[in-house]
Amino acid sequence: MFLGLDLGTSGVKALLINRQQGIIDSKNSAITVSRPHPGWSEQDPADWISACESAMDQLKAAQPEAFSQIKAISFSGQMHGATLLDENGQPLRPAILWNDTRSYQEAAELDAMPAFRELSGNIVFPGFTAPKLVWVARHEPEVFAKTAKVVLPKDYIAFWLSGEYISEMSDAAGTSWLNVADRCWSEELLALSGMRLDQMPRLVEGSDAAGTIRAELANRWGLSKDVIIGGGAGDNAASAIGMGVVSEGQAFLSLGTSGVIFAATDGFKPLPASAVHAFCHAIPNTWHQMGVILSATDALNWYANLTGCSAAELDAELPTAANEPASVRFLPYLSGERTPHNDAQIRGVFVGLEHESDRATLTQAIMEGVAFAIRDNLEALNQAGAQVDEIIAVGGGSRSNFWIQTLSNVLNKSILIPADGDFGAAFGAARLALLAAEDVDPISVLTTPHIERRIEPNQATVSLYEQAYQHYRKIYPALKDL
Ligand code: XUL
Repeated sequence: MFLGLDLGTSGVKALLINRQQGIIDSKNSAITVSRPHPGWSEQDPADWISACESAMDQLKAAQPEAFSQIKAISFSGQMHGATLLDENGQPLRPAILWNDTRSYQEAAELDAMPAFRELSGNIVFPGFTAPKLVWVARHEPEVFAKTAKVVLPKDYIAFWLSGEYISEMSDAAGTSWLNVADRCWSEELLALSGMRLDQMPRLVEGSDAAGTIRAELANRWGLSKDVIIGGGAGDNAASAIGMGVVSEGQAFLSLGTSGVIFAATDGFKPLPASAVHAFCHAIPNTWHQMGVILSATDALNWYANLTGCSAAELDAELPTAANEPASVRFLPYLSGERTPHNDAQIRGVFVGLEHESDRATLTQAIMEGVAFAIRDNLEALNQAGAQVDEIIAVGGGSRSNFWIQTLSNVLNKSILIPADGDFGAAFGAARLALLAAEDVDPISVLTTPHIERRIEPNQATVSLYEQAYQHYRKIYPALKDL
């Protein structure tokens, strides 16, 4: 048995598979985000551990026999978060998350140093880890002085489970401290942001075995003390592993809290000017590109909170088919935007409100706004040389037929929906656990899921959505100047 632990922004999922990759069961436990100031986004690492314990305990209670046979555990995690630990491994402050944009000035300063784009292959985005540490050094010098280690969120879980500081290439690529071509920490980039190599965890490949479980936890759960702890992956690379997206031409779209369009590339292909991310993949010698928008289902959830309806209720009010764009436009920049604008200060907007704009019109405008933002990302990926033929969709938003049809119309691409089952990040993490424990060729394990449905663009409407997209594109430059 192999266990995948996915530490998302809104919860932890623990998923168990057998050697044939059949899913035995999965359990979730929710976590919340704290936003103490505009642009801030934090979580207490202790809440991550409690959520992992809860998901693990539920899984053990539901599947005692299978659970006792766990051979390896690996991870998927929300990326970029800065977890600052003292010399005893205790968190010094709440973790600063991927969608926290407080360090936009520090990010711009680092990004202006040519070494960052050259060695990391990416813009230094405010959400990345390095500028957060520069912010802490400036605003909380007493915390900075005590910082013995900085780990990414899932690496904190690996530390809790194994007692070792471990990271791996796909997540480390999002810190701005990794030499992404050479797959090693860059002492130069660390020094330029006031950091040292000894503050970094040891690096492994995502599919490697990195350690073994701590005896105390093995006893607590009745597991063998030889349970292997794998490297794991950042959540997007983990989803790609779950869907077998590992070769050029393969791509997926994740409609989660963030929205990501991810393309596997053959080789490292950076193009920082396009605001496309070029990162290591979670198996050796592979890389990928992705465009990231900060608010995808997060935008719909914001509106659900505002209206007192659930996202599913809002979806149910929409017309049965996406045949015509809404009369209102929405820009989903609720916490700024990464690709293609790299603008931490821009905020969202509705344009074209009128008396007839009812709740459903605005729901539709939000889904379209996210689809247009994804289209901006696809254009950026094309510019960076990624081949995107067809796109597999995953994440909570992909359960809405209306949203997926809208995306297909806006992108003018076929969108593939995997058959019932779980091919997301937690499944990818479980596959990485399998690879860490068994001597097998990764490619033989990383097969693509059975596709249940193909959503084709409705050709009669593509030009209408194209016009609406061109209208959408005019709004950001106007808004930016306000
Ligand atoms: C990727 C990114 C997000 C988070 C969400 O660069 O910031 O997709 O990984 O968990």
